[in-house]
Amino acid sequence: MTERPRVILGVAGGIAAYKAAELVRRLTETGHDVRVVPTEGALRFVGEATWAALSGHPVATDVWAGAHEVPHVRLGREADLVVVAPATADLLARAAHGLADDLLTNVLLTARCPVLLAPAMHTEMWEHPATRANVATLRGRGTVVLDPAVGRLTGADTGRGRLPDPADLADLARLLLARPAALPRDLAGRRVLVTAGGTREPLDPVRFIGNRSSGRQGYALALVAAARGAEVTVVAANVALPDPSGATVLPVTSAAELRDVTLAAAADEDAVVMAAAVADFRPALAESVKIKKSGGAPAPVELVATADVLSDLLAARRPGQVVVGFAAETGDAEADWLEHGRRKLARKGADLLVVNPVGDGLAFEVPDNGGVVLAADGGEVEVPTGPKTALAATVWDLVAARLR
Ligand code: CTP
Repeated sequence: MTERPRVILGVAGGIAAYKAAELVRRLTETGHDVRVVPTEGALRFVGEATWAALSGHPVATDVWAGAHEVPHVRLGREADLVVVAPATADLLARAAHGLADDLLTNVLLTARCPVLLAPAMHTEMWEHPATRANVATLRGRGTVVLDPAVGRLTGADTGRGRLPDPADLADLARLLLARPAALPRDLAGRRVLVTAGGTREPLDPVRFIGNRSSGRQGYALALVAAARGAEVTVVAANVALPDPSGATVLPVTSAAELRDVTLAAAADEDAVVMAAAVADFRPALAESVKIKKSGGAPAPVELVATADVLSDLLAARRPGQVVVGFAAETGDAEADWLEHGRRKLARKGADLLVVNPVGDGLAFEVPDNGGVVLAADGGEVEVPTGPKTALAATVWDLVAARLR
């Protein structure tokens, strides 16, 4: 058995500490060796027993316990990844200034692996110039500092300050373990639009023609873009997943609706990624009442073509805008899946085309994806099968290079 990746989960003293318990569970269940290092404040919210039971390890809480093993150095040195969730304003300040006044800050100073900080605090604290400066310092050193999510805070108030969803934090942690440099801040100040999911074309009020796209790849693209600093909008066609942290989601149903919403939003975007599976045809007529089975043999369904959104985007694109298409392909007698992708890029004219082989349980409704990203300039980047966030990171690497 290969060694399990070693993750140190630092937990600072904020109410969101209880959500870190779910993060521990998600990481241990996906084969990570998790050591929890709570601060003294964190232990006032969630006790040592919870962390020990969920991680399956004793919990190191102070630099003096087991001093013969020098835990303040060993833990950080041996880690493959350090995550701090929640990272409070106080923790960010201590980390930015290199303080070493408790075990967690010692770990942060000794770790040479990627560090992911997930802040959670009240909006005023996040917006305070002192916190802004600390975050800028940490980001400048290559520490990944996420923006907190917007929503309900501890009291009756709402605003920016919530801990990003633990499932998203687990996905980003796995991404950093697979690709330590996957989350640079290179999309800061950029606006990106991602379409996700699969459209549904109504036959009557109850039935539709749809496809198997779950929206996972589009949501992974949105999550990674937000973590890289972009302002992200997602046009989501029938996606049954929680909104990706940091993105604004615009729900749509049909191809026509997706086209209208996407084209309207695209005018202000630096990049548009068409990850949605958009129907090429729709029933010519959507019955306004339910089609009944009585009445003998069903009438054949007449189909008409839908508009090609990618082509419309390319026709309307503003100078410098990067447009990315997706193509799920199978091989046939004429050509293999990749060759079909190359022909599609030549035909459609996007800047980048992500080609995935599909069929046999590949790509749809599963967490992993792989393929080849083809560029209009002839470049081809192979992405081995892995988390959808890893494919997303490659797409954003190529987009960011074209935006520069
Ligand atoms: N697409 C689109 N509008 C459509 C159909 C597809 O914008 N009506 C986009 C998809 O989001 C994807 C790209 O075009 O980014 C390629 O989709 P695909 O269905 O593979 O392309 P088609 O040109 O429809 O080719 P095929 O004949 O293989 O279906």
